[in-house]
Amino acid sequence: MDLAVADAHLTPNYARFAVDFVRGEGARLWDADGVEYLDFLAGISVSSVGHCHPAVIRAIREQAARLIHVGNLYYTEPMARLAQRLAECSLRGKVFFTNSGTEAVEAALKCARKARPGGTMVALHGAFHGRTYGSLSVTPQESKQAPFAPLVGGTQTVPATIDAIAAAIDEHTAALILEPIQGETGVHVLPDELLHAARQCCDATGAALIFDEIQTGLGRTGTAWAYQQTGVIPDLLCTAKALGGGLPIGALITGPRLADTFAPGDHGSTFAGGPVVCAAAHAALDVLLDEALLSRVHELGELVRSSLETLPHVTAVRGRGLMIAFDVDVDATEVVRRLLFEQRLVANATGPATVRLLPPLVIGEEDARAALDRIAAVLA
Ligand SMILES: Cc1ncc(COP(=O)(O)O)c(C=O)c1O
Repeated sequence: MDLAVADAHLTPNYARFAVDFVRGEGARLWDADGVEYLDFLAGISVSSVGHCHPAVIRAIREQAARLIHVGNLYYTEPMARLAQRLAECSLRGKVFFTNSGTEAVEAALKCARKARPGGTMVALHGAFHGRTYGSLSVTPQESKQAPFAPLVGGTQTVPATIDAIAAAIDEHTAALILEPIQGETGVHVLPDELLHAARQCCDATGAALIFDEIQTGLGRTGTAWAYQQTGVIPDLLCTAKALGGGLPIGALITGPRLADTFAPGDHGSTFAGGPVVCAAAHAALDVLLDEALLSRVHELGELVRSSLETLPHVTAVRGRGLMIAFDVDVDATEVVRRLLFEQRLVANATGPATVRLLPPLVIGEEDARAALDRIAAVLA
């Protein structure tokens, strides 16, 4: 492929590396020249089941041959059963399907606002919730927000501290939205005490507690959902990314209290919950909710984190399960570039000093050790 021709026709909002991937299998990718890469980013936590998982391919093929689209004026079995599975493995309420993460956040914000008309939205510094206007308005990052002002009103962002949360939330608050582990800003695990305090503030005032588990969910941290390791249960849960085994699907999962907030006509999405993406999601869930896989994610995460700590230039290591970041005292973007072009390891930099690893959850110990060797070679 001529990358200059591609750049002439694609809007310039992504800083793409000059690699043209043509094939994937498990944790491996191949470029147009046949060069093999080890993928420790998984399309930013999307390909958790690995690339081209045979069960996902089979589910897509079979469903595509039967029915591709009918819309949300009717029922389809893959959608109804997926709603049941998602609710049963989490909050036990009801499910609204979306096509992406940011739409799941929009649905959560709308649900919370409808439950408390006119209420404010509170978000935390360091958060990332998406790029559409509602989600962007609760993503307090100057570079992402400023060019698109004015943003949606009725939002407030506060430091990720117990005192700041307690001061911000009152009976006029519709929702507090947070990521249990802030992914896009460098894999910062929010302390359990902060999450418990957030739950108490929401309980005391009637505000909804929204957990954005778009990146942390579906096995990434070693449990189906990150909240299950914290002892705090949210009212609304956003998921997307890994749910479709690589296809675009997201969901808002409600708890029982807010399950019937939306009435017919309140919200909708033409493509959402289509039979093909739902069939793929069933295949992905079969893989990702397996107990043996989840405990391996936990063990491999410990292995990778403890090994990273011993490497030169590594100043901090963070994360849970296979959601990992490490800080370096050299240029992280250059580390990521050398990993890609010299070591053929796919990773990404969340900032000038932070490298993030989000491998497929189906990797084995050999893959983990191979990635560590490649990182060690670049940092030597
Ligand atoms: C925590 C979190 N929320 C929301 C989003 C937005 O998801 P999408 O890009 O599918 O709209 C992301 C994407 O990286 C995310 O990590």
